[in-house]
Amino acid sequence: MNVADSDEMFAHLAARGAVLTDKLEEADTVLVNTCTVRDHAEHRAVSFLGRLAAWKKEKPGRIIIFAGCAAQRLGQALQKKYPFLDILSGAKEIEHFSETLDKSGLFGPHQTAGELPAPGLTGYVTIMRGCNFACSYCIVPSVRGPIKCLPVQDILQDAARKAAAGAKEIMLLGQTVNAYQDGAVSFADLLNRVSEVPGVARVRFTSPHPIYFTPQFLAAVKDNPKIARHVHLPVQSGSTKVLQEMKRGYTREIFLDKIRALKSCGFNISTDIIVGFPTETEEDFRQTLSLVDEVKFFIAYCYKYSPRQGTPAAKMKLLGQKVLEERLDILLNRVRGLSDAAYQMQVGSEQEVLMETPHKGRSSGNFWVKTKKSYPVGSLVRTQIERADGTLLFARD
Ligand code: 5AD
Ligand code: SF4
Repeated sequence: MNVADSDEMFAHLAARGAVLTDKLEEADTVLVNTCTVRDHAEHRAVSFLGRLAAWKKEKPGRIIIFAGCAAQRLGQALQKKYPFLDILSGAKEIEHFSETLDKSGLFGPHQTAGELPAPGLTGYVTIMRGCNFACSYCIVPSVRGPIKCLPVQDILQDAARKAAAGAKEIMLLGQTVNAYQDGAVSFADLLNRVSEVPGVARVRFTSPHPIYFTPQFLAAVKDNPKIARHVHLPVQSGSTKVLQEMKRGYTREIFLDKIRALKSCGFNISTDIIVGFPTETEEDFRQTLSLVDEVKFFIAYCYKYSPRQGTPAAKMKLLGQKVLEERLDILLNRVRGLSDAAYQMQVGSEQEVLMETPHKGRSSGNFWVKTKKSYPVGSLVRTQIERADGTLLFARD
């Protein structure tokens, strides 16, 4: 999501004549787009500002823009601490980034001819911003605000533009992406509509919330092979008690029901898990481990609970760091072999591979596949899987 937001902000700079460079030394302007979901992410963004202080001192005309969720959360306090910051643009202001640039007086006038970088094989398309949930550990609703869905027509236009510029795969983005609704158009309708955009071979999306995976959703997408058979579905905990304290809106059983339904339509499932939520007991943690064993996720990203100021959970008594570290270690050990096992399960299956290099591409379920023959980048190749090695499938082609 941040990559897509960065591209969107860059487009406004490009419209004022900016071109991209990945060399700090060459740049006149640095746009730092930030995350604040865990303390560590925010810390990294703010420490980078320290590095930029020296960069700016070398040539005082250089411009620093600090944007995104950490900018939103820290606001003016940051400007006080780092007076050399030129522009502060919080996550809620991304739609007004062009006005922010104009107001700063630091950039020339908006001329629409700016050169945008080509989207690559995957075009990211934001379909909604914000979140209407209030998970007790999560800072997103406060820094991003409530849900705003983009109009269907704008989304289709954005997808068409990216497909025309070379994207074969469209990735739809939103904090609770499958809560999308625009009038009568549901998320499933939108997926089907995007899949019909000329040039689009595959549609992915991230991140969904379990409760919106209804039987109606599955019925509407199950016959459309362009909708990728992979979902990243954060579970956060395997304990119903902790899920309730997290205010996730589902129980372990409901989550498992959703998984069964998704798997029956061929979806490969990855997840996020938080360990050491303040009320998590040893028994709750064991429930998470048993859920991992039961679901056999494709990938599980595991995080230590990080208290975020202003969230309800931040007022609860923390578990010790040692407990968090021990639990994370145990969980990481438990998830380590999952991907290899999921890859092994694919041996013998038929896959449709979207080629990202002449010899390598990704299947609909998001598995990496190596081919024997060489194919044009961006082509779709149907092949059987001969064997798996670690996190790579080998095609029979
Ligand atoms: N502490 C730890 N992990 C968190 N996440 C969100 N908030 C927190 C927090 N306070 C994790 C969740 C989410 C992912 C993007 O980050 O697992 O799915
Ligand atoms: Fe945060 Fe929960 Fe919204 Fe996800 S659904 S962004 S975890 S509040």
